[in-house]
Formats: sequence, structure tokens, C-alpha cells
Amino acid sequence: MRVSQPDSYYVTTPIYYVNAEPHIGNAYTTVAADVLNRYHKLFGYRSYFLTGTDEHGSKVAESAEKAGLSPQELCDRNSQVFKDSWKKMNIEYDKFIRTTDPEHEEIVRKFIQVLHDKGYIYQGEYSGLYCTGCEKFITDKELTEDGLCPVHLTKPQQVREKNYFFKLSKFLGPLKEKIESGDLEIMPASRRNEVLGLFKQNLDDFSLSRERVKWGVSLPFDESQVTYVWIDALINYISAPKYPDGPDFDRLWNKSTVVHLMAKDILKFHCIYWPAMLMAADVKLPDKIVIHGYLNLDSQKISKSLGNIIKPDDMIGWFGVDASRFLVLNMCAFGSDGDIRIEDFYTKYNSDLANNYGNLVSRTLKMIDRNLDGILPQPSGDDMPEIIKDGYETVGKVRDRLVDVQIKMATDEIIAYLSKLNTYFDEKKPWVLAKEGASNELGKVLYNVSYGIALSSALLSPYLTEKTATVLECLFGKKIPPNVVLQELGHALGFSDKIEIPKENLFPRLSMPKELETKAEAEADNLIGIEDFAKVKLQVAEVKAAEKVPGADKLLKLQLEIGRELRQIVAGIAEYYEPESLLGKKIIVVTNLKPVKLRGIESNGMLLAAQKNKKLTLLTVDSDIPSGAKIS
Ligand code: MSP
Repeated sequence: MRVSQPDSYYVTTPIYYVNAEPHIGNAYTTVAADVLNRYHKLFGYRSYFLTGTDEHGSKVAESAEKAGLSPQELCDRNSQVFKDSWKKMNIEYDKFIRTTDPEHEEIVRKFIQVLHDKGYIYQGEYSGLYCTGCEKFITDKELTEDGLCPVHLTKPQQVREKNYFFKLSKFLGPLKEKIESGDLEIMPASRRNEVLGLFKQNLDDFSLSRERVKWGVSLPFDESQVTYVWIDALINYISAPKYPDGPDFDRLWNKSTVVHLMAKDILKFHCIYWPAMLMAADVKLPDKIVIHGYLNLDSQKISKSLGNIIKPDDMIGWFGVDASRFLVLNMCAFGSDGDIRIEDFYTKYNSDLANNYGNLVSRTLKMIDRNLDGILPQPSGDDMPEIIKDGYETVGKVRDRLVDVQIKMATDEIIAYLSKLNTYFDEKKPWVLAKEGASNELGKVLYNVSYGIALSSALLSPYLTEKTATVLECLFGKKIPPNVVLQELGHALGFSDKIEIPKENLFPRLSMPKELETKAEAEADNLIGIEDFAKVKLQVAEVKAAEKVPGADKLLKLQLEIGRELRQIVAGIAEYYEPESLLGKKIIVVTNLKPVKLRGIESNGMLLAAQKNKKLTLLTVDSDIPSGAKIS
């Protein structure tokens, strides 16, 4: 989409771990990559799309053991689940790579041998805490108060083993320059800054092998060790086109714009480790690394343990495949975290797809059928009406947005154009023209709207792969690829001489299931759900010390014991309590508030008090209980 860049793209998703099933979180990245890939083709470029599964490592081996299967059996079964899901979502990848493919394994060994031959791998010893869930070492600083992995809330294992290390330090300087100069483009800018921030921390050489793990690709120069699963996984991007000299490597990797898509969770691996390894092996770097946010459901992380997983199948059951593709990607700005709610899917479905696109198509095609016998007149004269010019402009805007991979903004442009077309239709009142027998004018209006529908359908085709094909077939009387419609830009369109009406309502209005409606109503009444309440962490605290804040009549500074922790808070209760009277009291404190400074003094929490008619009393516990006790 950028004139100065090669005319072919190579788009990738992360390869997903096979120990979990696909959910809308990974569907989000996969649909985004699929949509981007289809847009490239729509705008006349070549584009190749790679996805797949990450199948080695201790996490997978442990899941297999639990399921009573061999690791390979588990991988075969679960990678098929991903393939099936993506098929149902109309994901059109060119290659699905599996890291247990023998060809991939061989290329991993080849690549690592190159790093070794060039002297960038050395032997050392690693000792640290390893989280199998993350498949990475974590530092003490990252642990929760209880010494658990912050992501998986499990206890990491203490590991000490012989490892091979990659000389990351050698490449940090040149890599940083490439990121700063935009040679390696990290998008959006906020993530690029985040990556540049990482260079200020200690980025140590990293270990690229494991001694104790058995399920992996053995190192070519030491068969007693396997390649660290993350290194094995990253190499998929070049093993798919067959590094170093396979027939597609030059075309796909060297001569295409390589675009890696993923969420923020795996940014360090992709923006630092991966390019550094490529530099070490003298391989071209990817061109763009596009990092999107996390989808949360009802403000909670989507996770199996919270039981709030939405599977692609669920979405397809509610909205059909086209709408699911559209909805999953368009609820939040690409790049930011998105708080999604199922209720909002219904609202967006009805407004954008049922009322805006679907209704416009339906009323236009019905009118052409009923009043013009299915025939649209060819326009006379060269002057393009404004409403069609708006359509051309929309095509341009969508292209521009996509250069920055602003997928949702691109869609918003199309939806805005559809609203314009609906307004045009309403203002021109074709039903009145039909009644008055003004068939010339009627023909023109319906031609213009149909032109707009054809352009919008082409632009929406990367999402609505099936429904837009139906609409274009109705308009043109034959199957017509959406890119052909865009090629006609600026010219009259050769519509069919018997325009048909779709056999089925494209996007019937959907009513929200009862339970969601009740939830939405409760929210409208400002009621909160239990999940909202659960976000506030309340604990019993014992007051260990209290004193007045000099110069502030209303404030007391309290030192609290909360379990094993000592905390300071500042509270506006000086008019009601003498500091000494508080000592030993067990009070209730919100412990997950962001710390603030009051009169320059840090307050890390908030106590609870009841207040009425200038009286205030602290909330406390009914019977004795140790401080730190959680309140729910
Ligand atoms: N196997 C590694 C990736 C190796 S790539 C060389 C891995 N796998 S994963 O199964 O955990 O997938 C992580 C990716 O899934 C995220 O980067 C993101 O693309 C997608 N998502 C998973 N949950 C998500 C959300 N809730 N929201 C958005 N994307 C999410 O990490």
C-alpha cells in the first residue's frame, strides 16, 4: 500500500500454543492478519499469509501428560482444532506452519548452527525462576507478593542448568538505531516507545537452549539440549518460506514487506530478540511489527481460569461468520486495549450491519427490481455525482488508514460512507419518484446508490467475505472479485441487466438475549455487577501509628499493618478522631487504589468510613480477625 515499498507483502500472526483452544483473543489477531492480507490483495498487491501453532516446550509436554497423550498426539489433535476454527472463521492463510513439522525442525537447527558458526553462541549456566505457563524465566521483581508468577499465579520453579547463550549485547546498539531510524518500523508509536524504553533496562544475553526439557528441537552442536521453545517458535517466520535458499525465501522474506502482527504480551521477543538473531545471521529484518492491545471481556482478562472465554464458534453461532469477523475487530481502536461486552456486539451488529449496510442494500435492490425491472440505466455524461466521488474518496481514506494498520479507523470510514448513502437515499425519496413516474431521475438515483453499494461491498469484502460476494453477484449478474470493482474506479460500472435481490435477508436485526438485556438495563440504572465489585480489594488493617499532618487540619497520617505488609495512608478524619484513639483499631482499607500524594505525603490506600450529618465513624470488624484478612 506504500508506493515506495515492494508490491508484495508477507503477513504473519504469532503461532499459538496448542495447549489451549482458540478464543476471541487469538481470533482477533488472526482475523486482523487475514483482513490485512485480503486488503493488500484488494488494492492490487500480492500478499502471503502465514499462521500456525507453537508445539514444543514443557507447557505442551505437561498438558499432554495430563491428557494421557504423547506430546505429538496432543499437538496433532489440537493444531487441528486451530485449523478447524480458522476454517470456520473463513481465514484464508497460505500456509499453516507447525513447529513439529520436520522441515521446520531442520531449519531451526540450520539457523542455530549459523549463529554458532559466527561465534554468537556461548556456553554458560543459568539459575533462576522459571514459569512454565509463560515458558520464560522471571525475575524476583516480577513476582507477586506471594511469590507467584503475576500472569499465571503459579509458583515458578527454581532451575539451575547448563545453557547456551546468545550474544544479544553485540546487537543492541545497531538494533536500537534501526528502530529509531524506522528501518524496523514498530507500530503504533506508543509501542515503539515502549520498545525503545526496554533498551534502557538491563537487556542481558539470553539463553536459547534448555537442558531439562525433552520436547523440543535438539541443538545441532549439542544433542543433549533442546532449543528454547521461544527461539524455535520465532524461527517459524523464516522456516515457512524455507530459509536460507528455498524457492520462496527470496521472494517472501527478502523482497516483500514483512509484517508481523501480535499483541503487546510478546513484544520483547519480537522487537528485540528476533531482530537481533536475524542481524547475527545476516538475514534481513522484518519491515513492520504491528502490536495491538488486549481484548478484555467485561473488564476482565479473557482466561480459562476465569471461565470467560468466548470461542470463535460461539460468535459464529450468535452472529454468523461474516459479522463475527467484522465485530471482533471493530469494537476498539487497533493498538489499544479493548474492553468488550457481548451486549455491545449486538448493538454494533444492528447499527452497522443490519440497519446501515444490510438495509441499504435491501431497499435499493428491491426498488430496482420492482420499479425498473432490475435494469439500471447507464449514466449519461462524464460528470460523476458527488455521492460517487465521496465513494472514491472513501477508498483513498481506507487505503491511507491501512498503511498505518489502523484497521478500525478504516472500517469507520466505510461505515460513515454507508450512512451518507442512506441519507442520500432518504433525501432523494426514490419511492416518491417511482410514484410520480419520474423514471429517469429514479434510475439515476438508484444507479448512484448502487455504485456506492458496489464500492462499499468491495471495501467491506475483507470482513464480510460471503455476504459482499452475494451483493456483488446480485449487482453484476455473476461472481465478481472485489478488486475488479475497485479497478473500475472512475468509470461507469457495468451492472447486470437483471439485478437480483438477495435470496435471504443479509443481516436480519437481532434482539439481545434476555439475560444480556437485563444486564444492560442494570448498567443503565448504574447498578454494578459482582465482577465490578470484585475489582475493589478490601482488607482488614490494624492501625500501628497515627499522627496529625502538620499544616493540614483535616488529615491524619496512619501507619497500617496489613498482613505482613506495612503501609502508610493519609485520611481526612482528623476532625473526628484523636490520633492515639486509633492505635490498635482494626479498620477496613481499599488496598488496590493507585497511590496518591496528599500534601506531599504518599497515601497508599483508602480507609472506609460512614458519614452523615457531620458525624463520621470508621468501619471496623465485628469480631477479632488478623489484619490482612480479605473482605468480600
Ligand atoms: N506461542 C507464543 C507465540 C510465538 S510467536 C513466534 C504465544 N502463543 S499464545 O497462544 O499465547 O498467543 C499469544 C497471542 O495471542 C497474543 O500475542 C495475541 O496475538 C493473541 N491473544 C491472546 N489473547 C488475546 C487477547 N485477549 N486479546 C488480543 N490478543 C490476544 O504467545
